[in-house]
Amino acid sequence: MKLTWKKFNLIESLKKFFGFTAPFYQEVTLAGQRFIFREIALSDIRGLLALEKEVYAGELPWSKTAFVVELKNLAPHRYVLLERGGEIVGFVGARLHAEDCHVTNIAVHPHFQGQGIGSFMLRDIFQYAKENKSQQITLEVRISNLDAQRLYRRFGFVSCNIKKNYYTENNEDAVDMIVKMEDLSW
Ligand SMILES: CC(C)(COP(=O)(O)OP(=O)(O)OC[C@H]1O[C@@H](n2cnc3c(N)ncnc32)[C@H](O)[C@@H]1OP(=O)(O)O)[C@@H](O)C(=O)NCCC(=O)NCCS
Repeated sequence: MKLTWKKFNLIESLKKFFGFTAPFYQEVTLAGQRFIFREIALSDIRGLLALEKEVYAGELPWSKTAFVVELKNLAPHRYVLLERGGEIVGFVGARLHAEDCHVTNIAVHPHFQGQGIGSFMLRDIFQYAKENKSQQITLEVRISNLDAQRLYRRFGFVSCNIKKNYYTENNEDAVDMIVKMEDLSW
């Protein structure tokens, strides 16, 4: 049997799903502060929902079910968080689909924004995309979220499409953004 990259990814996902690989865990220093940088587990969902409430003024863009579906997804994915003193201060998620690495979510606690945490987590996703031979990284962002768009542009993302009324609760448009790995100089 020829082991294609797709089959390899599926095997890796199954190994992770059934607990045959140790979850990723690392200590990092960012802006002079120590954090634990580790893979997200289902037991983190309560903390992630609390973080969302802080980030989105009480709103929950992702429900508990949305997190469970993503974390249990058999498609290869990376969901990692940064924590300090037992509190989650940020997380990012991405899922592979064919040659696309799609960033599904990223958020940093308001007290920790503007200190390089979002950039650190995005770099991790770029590394993940490279390791998995993705051709491109994509994401969508609210058209009004200019701060996030500025961050993404610094990483080489460009707008490629507008999805009209994508966010149903206020009919806001989404900007599709993409960066081709071949265009990266780093
Ligand atoms: C978008 C988001 C994830 C970015 O995270 P972040 O940790 O604030 O990102 P960074 O700190 O890496 O970068 C933000 C800014 O801080 C600056 N910065 C980075 N490191 C810094 C440091 N050590 N000291 C001061 N400023 C710094 C960056 O240059 C950047 O500047 P810019 O505004 O000109 O782009 C975060 O703002 C967030 O959670 N927003 C709400 C949720 C959201 O919008 N998610 C995206 C949905 S698509």
